[in-house]
Amino acid sequence: MIWAVLPAAGRGQRFGGDTPKQYLRIAGKPLIEHALTALLAHPRVAGAMVALSAGDELWPGWSELLGKPVLRCTGGNERADSVLAALRALPAQVGDDALVLVHDAARPNLRGEDIGRLIAAAEAAPDGAILGAPLRDTLKRAGRGRIVGTEPREGLWRAFTPQAFRRGALTATLAEAARAGVAVTDEASAMERSGVQPWLVEGREDNLKVTTPADLALAEYLIGRH
Ligand code: CTP
Ligand code: MG
Repeated sequence: MIWAVLPAAGRGQRFGGDTPKQYLRIAGKPLIEHALTALLAHPRVAGAMVALSAGDELWPGWSELLGKPVLRCTGGNERADSVLAALRALPAQVGDDALVLVHDAARPNLRGEDIGRLIAAAEAAPDGAILGAPLRDTLKRAGRGRIVGTEPREGLWRAFTPQAFRRGALTATLAEAARAGVAVTDEASAMERSGVQPWLVEGREDNLKVTTPADLALAEYLIGRH
């Protein structure tokens, strides 16, 4: 059984404005609905757990979408706290060995083909797998606004979501990072701390995370295009 976990408790400070970005609409639907339906449309995904901020009044109150359960819980101060809360709130039938797909609510343009390839990689790998893509730009090191060096790009990837791990292992490793006071910005970095090497699955570059207003315009342009 595979469940999706969606951290959606952020405030979108870099985006600005009054409405948290996961509730901004493109192509007639809020970003979070695009993200949820992309995951639930995949035949292997059985349900979704969404982490919301405590005072969230914008959540549409779905208990199911596409005929699959949508559950909610309260998230935390950091993204990792929200993911940990959601993992703990999953129903008991999602066992410790079950795969969970953690996906940002602010990533609306996820394709089924990427979900399928990620699941296939994660099922074959004890340490999980994430979607990502190799860097394409030339990398400059900056010092007080000037270039002080050019860094080798080889072997560097950008990390996307979903990130696929076993429920029990991911819960334990996120709890340990929280106990140690270590900030982790994605699930893989928490797993890496415990010494494992998750697989990188090359995904579509149009699976972008909406961080700024320019990203929203780009997401709207890209959504539904192949
Ligand atoms: N998120 C969350 N709980 C938090 C912070 C973030 O569930 N305490 C979620 C966001 O809602 C988003 C995803 O994690 O779906 C990716 O985080 P990010 O892009 O950083 O979103 P925000 O934290 O909302 O934006 P910002 O960092 O600009 O404030
Ligand atoms: Mg954030």
